[in-house]
Amino acid sequence: MYICICNALKDSELAEASNDARTVSEVFKRCGRRPQCGKCLPDVAQLIEDARCVENGAQTIAAE
Ligand code: FES
Repeated sequence: MYICICNALKDSELAEASNDARTVSEVFKRCGRRPQCGKCLPDVAQLIEDARCVENGAQTIAAE
């Protein structure tokens, strides 16, 4: 599914680029693109947050 229509970026590509990313612009840089209209920015921010939650969950499970 396309998340960023302006750059033809799919959720899978953005999710992979979101791993360990701190900012939305960092995700776009990893994809070799720049945000244009900005409509997808909240969704990309959510992907970063989701990646953090997965990482934190994995650390919690590993610590148990
Ligand atoms: S939809 Fe991503 S910049 Fe426009």
